[in-house]
Amino acid sequence: METISIVDAKNYVDKKVKIGVWLTNKRSSGKIAFLQLRDGTAFFQGVVVKNNVSEEIFTLAKEVRQEESMYVIGTIHEDSRSHFGYEIEIDEIELVGTSKDYPISPKEHGTDFLMDHRHLWLRSKRQFAVMKIRSELIRATYEFFHKEGFVKFDAPILTGSAPEGTTELFHTEYFDKDAYLSQSGQLYEEAGAMAYGKVFSFGPTFRAEKSKTRRHLIEFWMIEPEMAFMHQEESLELQERYIANLVQTVLDNCQYELKLLGRDPQVLQRYTELPYPRISYDEAVKLLQKSGDFPDVEWGKDFGSPEETYLAEHFSKPVFVLNYPKAIKPFYMKPHPTRDDVVICADLLAPEGYGEIIGGSERATDLVYLEEQIKKAGLNKEDYQWYLDLRRYGSVPHSGFGLGLERAVTWITGEEHIREAIPFPRLLNRIYP
Ligand code: 4AD
Ligand code: MG
Repeated sequence: METISIVDAKNYVDKKVKIGVWLTNKRSSGKIAFLQLRDGTAFFQGVVVKNNVSEEIFTLAKEVRQEESMYVIGTIHEDSRSHFGYEIEIDEIELVGTSKDYPISPKEHGTDFLMDHRHLWLRSKRQFAVMKIRSELIRATYEFFHKEGFVKFDAPILTGSAPEGTTELFHTEYFDKDAYLSQSGQLYEEAGAMAYGKVFSFGPTFRAEKSKTRRHLIEFWMIEPEMAFMHQEESLELQERYIANLVQTVLDNCQYELKLLGRDPQVLQRYTELPYPRISYDEAVKLLQKSGDFPDVEWGKDFGSPEETYLAEHFSKPVFVLNYPKAIKPFYMKPHPTRDDVVICADLLAPEGYGEIIGGSERATDLVYLEEQIKKAGLNKEDYQWYLDLRRYGSVPHSGFGLGLERAVTWITGEEHIREAIPFPRLLNRIYP
């Protein structure tokens, strides 16, 4: 008899197997007990029939408590009524770990309660499905960029630079110096691109943003590719191929998880169709003004959630918004060749109200321009000399972008709130557990 995982049940129909599981729920009558089981690979049902097992086992099946762990031994059968498609008819149960008064009962709980018990709440079905998809997106990311010829190039977490502005920095001490938690690995990726052509980083980033929205985390994970000898248009093509590839990978490998989430694969399928529409910031402003729903929108202001939602809904696909006003974007973006009020950049807005999932740009290459911008941004010139060296020694056109992993996970899984897209979310008022 083999010890297997639930996910492999399909290969063991009518065979006797042993599986290590936890009990998520149960119901029983005088003659039969139904145990809802999970092992971290899938959820399925165990059936214990009184007449087929010893009295001791049937009593155990009736008394086993939520989240107790055990080995079950029995025969796999098809079960067309369940999402999973298989069940186990149990002959024997070996209790492993007890669980008394599990705090999360199958009844409804409030968000704060569930977030306080996140370490346990992660065991439930939706969270399982979201974390599996998150893991799959990370795997697909490495595979995609590997196939595209990128080098994985890690950026530091403790830094002296502030690529995305000084207002959202987490300050810390680095012995006798000031340091910050990284907001973005981009500046280091630019050094990487000048050394190895095409690089990407994947790591945690931090924003001390005082915003409490369903799209903002204080600590989030970002994928940041950076490409030498690449202009904006080619970068946009890479971005849309990457996003379509992520969605397709989930469709190929996560059908069970999508079912658990009730996420319609047909809707996701649309997002694999390329190209994604591109509109300029100027056009976006006009579109919003024409709709009549956004009286406050005027040229020069950044978009908020409602504006981003409207724009992506308008196209019912992810949409690139190009060339934002210089005044609302970071210092490193390439100035427009014929207009001095906009920069060569693009945000990718996800449909269904999920907002910006990618921010990217072509990078300024001119040393003097960058020196000016660093000064204007109120940054300390000395801290950026290494960055300016990249312009002093063989500067080339180059572009890059950042995908917020949790934004992508929230969108693809159809979750309401970004806190569900990361195992232990760091939110404005939460650093526990
Ligand atoms: O637009 P952002 O700030 O761009 C950068 O950091 C660039 N340096 C990236 C680059 O070009 N290499 O952030 C990029 C993405 C956003 O589009 C969004 O998906 C995500 O990071 N993001 C957040 N996700 C969760 N919570 C937050 N507070 C986020 N801030 C940005
Ligand atoms: Mg942005």
